[in-house]
Amino acid sequence: MKQKISSYEAQPEKVNKVLLLFSGGLDTSCMIKWIEQKYDAEVITLTVDVGQPGIDLKATKQKALKLGAKKAFIVDAKKEFAQEYIAKAIKLNALYQGEYPLSTAIARPLKAKHAVKIAEQENVDAIAHGSTGKGNDQVRFDISITTLDPKMKIIAPVREWSMGRDEELKFAKKHGIPLPTNKGEYSTDENIWGKSSECGILEHPQESPPEDVFQFVTIPEKAPDKSEIVEIEFEKGIPIKLNGKLYELHKLVQKLNLIGGKHAVGIIDHMEDRVVGLKSREVYECPAATILLKAHKDLEKFTSTIHQNKVKPLIDQKWGEMAYYGLWFDPLMKSLESFADKMNEAVSGKVKVKLYKGKATVVGRESKNALYDLNLATYDKKQTFNQLASPGFIELFGLQTKLINQIQGGLDG
Ligand code: ARG
Repeated sequence: MKQKISSYEAQPEKVNKVLLLFSGGLDTSCMIKWIEQKYDAEVITLTVDVGQPGIDLKATKQKALKLGAKKAFIVDAKKEFAQEYIAKAIKLNALYQGEYPLSTAIARPLKAKHAVKIAEQENVDAIAHGSTGKGNDQVRFDISITTLDPKMKIIAPVREWSMGRDEELKFAKKHGIPLPTNKGEYSTDENIWGKSSECGILEHPQESPPEDVFQFVTIPEKAPDKSEIVEIEFEKGIPIKLNGKLYELHKLVQKLNLIGGKHAVGIIDHMEDRVVGLKSREVYECPAATILLKAHKDLEKFTSTIHQNKVKPLIDQKWGEMAYYGLWFDPLMKSLESFADKMNEAVSGKVKVKLYKGKATVVGRESKNALYDLNLATYDKKQTFNQLASPGFIELFGLQTKLINQIQGGLDG
């Protein structure tokens, strides 16, 4: 066993019972056996349903039990994920480095919360998760779990086992773990807010992602030739209706994933700065997130003052960064959310978004709280804006710029 430096890492001799966050994939399946052997401990599993498309929860539970888990818990957290996590991400226009809607990042504290709850109820000594030692997810899990339960110990087998893929496949075969049907080229993570893909050819940033990466979205070349307009209605910053029909947020997001995905909306390919310092190429499919974030930002701008609109991106940027860094339970998050909540009290109205071959474009918006005033803005005769007051304003607004140019004789000469 490798040397452990942190106080929260589980020591094998002190561990008798472990709760494993189980996805049902190859890694976490091997972990059931690996923990049993290396830690000589009993394993129970938890699978949190955050809307991973195609997941068969019954089969996942059966698989865990068959591989030796003493109990296998399943928690349906789709509604909670939408209401407590996605709703915040929308109000805070959350995009890490301006591109990534944080789909994986915001699901981690939710999984940590459920894991800690069951771990305490079941009296386990440690929580195990499937993250590697190179990514952000280990940071998010370890910080969230040990913040919620400072006594809890953690096991991250991939950080410890140093098995390559071939060895892992051998280990799986030896222990009767079903081998994956795909070639396992990509490492993925899915929920209703989006899908992340890494590894394989994607590790070569100069190569464009092959079509087989995409599961949530059609590629633009195969998207319909006809555009589609969706109308989203927001109440206080939260989407409540899609095309005039009321939906609970998780259902609205799922529905919009299908519509947006069909039009190839939400493909994101960017170079990302991980918390641990690595730069990595990430490919995401986030149709609903892309559409809702665009629509929300547009409506927020429409209903807020120029001064609010200047400060809000600073709040948004900080919130997104904290969520990305795994600091969900830091009180700063609540402070930033209070700011966003207050400002979003006015963010009610409808936004029309056109979807066409990979693009989502806002093409209309309306709100009873809009600060737009047609009588002020129009170039029609009936306009009410006092144009005669403009020169007085301009004289004072440009004062310092004029002065410095006179004093210094012009900035470029
Ligand atoms: N880079 C993203 C993040 O840190 C996604 C990581 C998800 N993991 C994966 N195996 N694709 O949030």
